[in-house]
Amino acid sequence: MTGPEHGGRLNAAARQWDIPVSRWLDLSTGINPIGWPMPELPARVWQRLPEDDDGLGDVIRQWAGAPASAACVPVPGSQAAIKTLPFLRPPGRVGIPEPGYREHGHWWALAGHEVIPLPLEAATEAVAWPDQLDVLVWIHPNNPTGFTLAPDRLRQWHERLAVHGGWLVLDEAFADAETGISLVADTGADRPGLVVLRSLGKFFGLAGLRAGAVLTDPQIGRALSDALGPWALSGPARHGMALALADSDWQRRAARRLARDSARLDKLLSRFGLTVSGGTRLFRYVPHAHTERIADGLARQGVLVRRFDRPPALRFGLPGTPEQWRRLEAALSALESD
Ligand SMILES: Cc1ncc(COP(=O)(O)O)c(C=O)c1O
Repeated sequence: MTGPEHGGRLNAAARQWDIPVSRWLDLSTGINPIGWPMPELPARVWQRLPEDDDGLGDVIRQWAGAPASAACVPVPGSQAAIKTLPFLRPPGRVGIPEPGYREHGHWWALAGHEVIPLPLEAATEAVAWPDQLDVLVWIHPNNPTGFTLAPDRLRQWHERLAVHGGWLVLDEAFADAETGISLVADTGADRPGLVVLRSLGKFFGLAGLRAGAVLTDPQIGRALSDALGPWALSGPARHGMALALADSDWQRRAARRLARDSARLDKLLSRFGLTVSGGTRLFRYVPHAHTERIADGLARQGVLVRRFDRPPALRFGLPGTPEQWRRLEAALSALESD
């Protein structure tokens, strides 16, 4: 089974459109374009084997606001948890939101579970999902639509799943830039069967570091750590992750800037007839009937955006510099005159 496609495939775009990689403006992901500034790392971080008891778990706990009883497991990107969790349960019925980040369904199916698509729009109504499923995966906020639910609803879902030994797997990869979304601080993340995934690849802009965290109950935490094995996260990733998570000043400033920039992107897109229906502070989602014409028209000018077919929509990441904002504006305006 080949895996789902993703944004950020700049080398493929360069080949397809015959434009060198260095000339692209890549808006095809939801990665913060002004990421946390990684300092030079001490030599020992490269040279020594990473050790589990280096205090990173507690740094994650403090940053996420999780209680002492929760497991805080560093992972080499939340992707590592997405592909490992399905093998920690016997095959069962697993609900996956649609549309949504497709890696979840891919891996649960690969591990032999029955994957049941859950339409996003139905989630605000009374649903029987938590009573009927063994595992409910929810991406919160959703990628690509940005759809969110009231945290209380997610808490209720978790309680109903936990009654029969089910899991709620909450993918909070894009939650850092939003306020009041994460279930970790209020619900505790130590409850049986609650599994929360966090990522340093989005808000922190450190996608290449391959670092993330899972906050969960101690039993699932132990099973996940055992399945990942020793040294799953490199020494440089552990060290850089701890520094970034502890830098709350940078986090406050970044959240403010992303709020401003995502509002600015909405205004810019709407000037060119592209109506944003939602998204997060890291990307904006534009349902549109002519996605191919727009995405290809932008790609011809070296601007890469993400195109979705079901339903047809475009996703725009944020430009990072004044020059990039000007480039996007010029490319959109050239589209109009095509
Ligand atoms: C919703 C969502 N979850 C998880 C991931 C995996 O991110 P990472 O492995 O970099 O933490 C992605 C990556 O695009 C994503 O969009």
